[in-house]
Amino acid sequence: RPRVLSGIQPTADSFHLGNYLGAVRQWVALQDTHDAFYFIADLHAITVEHDPKLLRKRTRVSAAQLLALGLDPARTTLFVQSQVPEHAELGWVMQCLTGFGEAGRMTQFKDKSAKQGGMVSVGLFTYPILQAADILVYRPEFVPVGEDQRQHLELTRDLAQRFNTRFGKTFPLPEPYILKDTAKIYDLQEPQAKMSKSASSPGGIVELLDDPKVSAKKIRSAVTDAEREIRFDPEAKPGVSNLLGIYSALTGRTVDDLVNAYDGKGYGDLKKDLAEAVADFAGPVRDTVKSYMDDPAELDKILASGAQRAREVAAATLARVYDRVGFLK
Ligand code: TYM
Repeated sequence: RPRVLSGIQPTADSFHLGNYLGAVRQWVALQDTHDAFYFIADLHAITVEHDPKLLRKRTRVSAAQLLALGLDPARTTLFVQSQVPEHAELGWVMQCLTGFGEAGRMTQFKDKSAKQGGMVSVGLFTYPILQAADILVYRPEFVPVGEDQRQHLELTRDLAQRFNTRFGKTFPLPEPYILKDTAKIYDLQEPQAKMSKSASSPGGIVELLDDPKVSAKKIRSAVTDAEREIRFDPEAKPGVSNLLGIYSALTGRTVDDLVNAYDGKGYGDLKKDLAEAVADFAGPVRDTVKSYMDDPAELDKILASGAQRAREVAAATLARVYDRVGFLK
């Protein structure tokens, strides 16, 4: 079975709809047909200032959400990045293959460092290189992510190619796996910007673990436009188109079908129905997360066994890499 690999940062109390529709939903679908490796990127989470207690909690809540959303640890290797030291070890080798200017061109770094109030860490600068190592250490064929990760995937492919050229063919070039319709879910308050844990105002993100009343209120207050017509036109009507896209993804109904069904109805109707769809979807997820968090020992056990499985693969790749760059056995 072809291998897939992806990760998510534990930097919020809850995943949002962008994380789910853009990435995690594909993770769940791919585990049936692929050899799947998914992890919580806690090493990446410390590239900005953080609270250790909160990080520990968010790492567990992230794992609990992935399980609640349908990852099956019997079929899928689910683990925490820091429990597999080979990521950081390969990361160093990859740093030594990356140009300073090349790293400086990463747009997420430019955005995040510009917004950063205090110190900008070197770790934030080398973040994409660690991400390349995260991926390459498993030698996957596909990496299911949202559109915002595309540039990091390109860097990953460049580094893999460079390593192969210098030291002999070692890495297959991983392909981004990005579904067009859900590649970018937008902020409800600012429908030109992506929904984002760090950048969005709280009103603009729908969090899976929010109270349904809170989500309903956010959806009700979503920015639309001065027209009244429900139609899909991301250029002219980014707000309404985003709501239609989310609703379509959650219910499996096509956008065309929805546009027909809402012919003659108002934005309020669409928002009300979307809020209901979100509540129906998120309710069971919230319950399952709660039961995992009530007994984190079970969760920690799943993660420990995932890390063990991940290390077998990662250690084999790292040994090959170390040998090829000329380190002693
Ligand atoms: P992170 O934690 O920001 O996001 C996790 C996943 O959610 C996707 N995503 C979105 N998709 C559509 N619309 C949105 N508004 C939206 N917001 C987020 C992201 O594209 C991502 O797939 N650098 C990564 C974590 C990472 C990683 C890796 C991913 C570390 N190492 C190796 C893949 C492979 C990140 O910060 O994702």
